[in-house]
Amino acid sequence: MDCVDLDALEHAARAKMAPASYAFCACGADDEISLGENIGAWRGLRLRPRVLRDVTAIDTSVSILGQTMPTPIMVAPTGRHKLFHPEGERATARGAAAAGVPYVVASNSNVLLEEVAAERKSAPQWFQLYYWPKVAEVEALIDRLAAAGFSALVLTVDAPVPGWAPVAAREQHEPSPDIRNINMPGQPMARTAYHPDFVGKVMYPATWRELEWLVKRSPMPVLVKGVLRADDAVACVEHGAKAVIVSNHGGRHLDTTVTTAAAVAEIAPALKGKAEVYVDGGIRRGTDILKALALGARAVLIGRPAIWGLTVSGAEGVRDVLDHFRIELIRAMQLTGTARIADATPDLLAR
Ligand SMILES: Cc1cc2nc3c(=O)[nH]c(=O)nc-3n(C[C@H](O)[C@H](O)[C@H](O)COP(=O)(O)O)c2cc1C
Repeated sequence: MDCVDLDALEHAARAKMAPASYAFCACGADDEISLGENIGAWRGLRLRPRVLRDVTAIDTSVSILGQTMPTPIMVAPTGRHKLFHPEGERATARGAAAAGVPYVVASNSNVLLEEVAAERKSAPQWFQLYYWPKVAEVEALIDRLAAAGFSALVLTVDAPVPGWAPVAAREQHEPSPDIRNINMPGQPMARTAYHPDFVGKVMYPATWRELEWLVKRSPMPVLVKGVLRADDAVACVEHGAKAVIVSNHGGRHLDTTVTTAAAVAEIAPALKGKAEVYVDGGIRRGTDILKALALGARAVLIGRPAIWGLTVSGAEGVRDVLDHFRIELIRAMQLTGTARIADATPDLLAR
């Protein structure tokens, strides 16, 4: 797949997607301020390259939850991959595995979690959980995930109610038997979050109490995704979370939040020595990854670009997008005199 430039890839993906699928992928909440500012915040940071360093051998490896991974790159959880490719999450999983990249499978996936697990190679798979009110169903899912070899649960906490995205509300896809939330109880057809039935309804009522329960009940480490404040991040760890994902859900639910670049700069120092911190939202360049690491993130997650690759070339497209990020990261490290990930320290950035 030709991936000289992610903008060109997005255009190619858009041309292949049904308009409603593109709207679902691209949309941000309300005025799409956070959607744009996530990207702009990374671009706005200025690098202070070091010169005359030996950059012939670059080591991008990093330890993530105790496992050495080849790069600090992961695939973010995004739902409904059969909107983008007939193989759905199975192709995404194969592409991530080929790139050696951890894949966080979404609750709203369209492929059975056991079939996704069958694509796993050396890189781990994690499962993103929306906490729904029926405890017995959550427990059954946890047990299936553990049996299928998933190695972490990622509890998403930033969308107890869906946000409002005008772009997606105008272009709603019709419910279809192919697009089911197949890992959810009853395997319901995916429905739009903009249906009047959902307005104001707390769909995922997790609180600190549920987090504590999940940590006790899950044989897998529990991570929390969607944290934007240091006090919340510290509380997550006090309640047993093993890591925190700094995220505003790609700007899809609450608009005009702090950017994830600003939030990770606040949160990473607060969790130093206590828990790992990852960040997502608007990562589009190798330099963005390097900046995130310099701010204290252990790794980044990639959302929409992985979907663009999936749409254009299935598993190969996902692998190529992830390789593209890895190659750009290596180049950014070479051009800034950063031979190892540990050398990506805050002084790499202008204050
Ligand atoms: C189409 C789409 C669906 C998503 N679905 C979920 C989801 O089900 N659960 C979740 O925690 N995050 C979800 N996200 C958010 C991503 O995990 C991630 O936070 C975000 O996409 C990162 O920003 P980026 O797309 O700019 O890289 C979704 C994002 C997109 C684009």
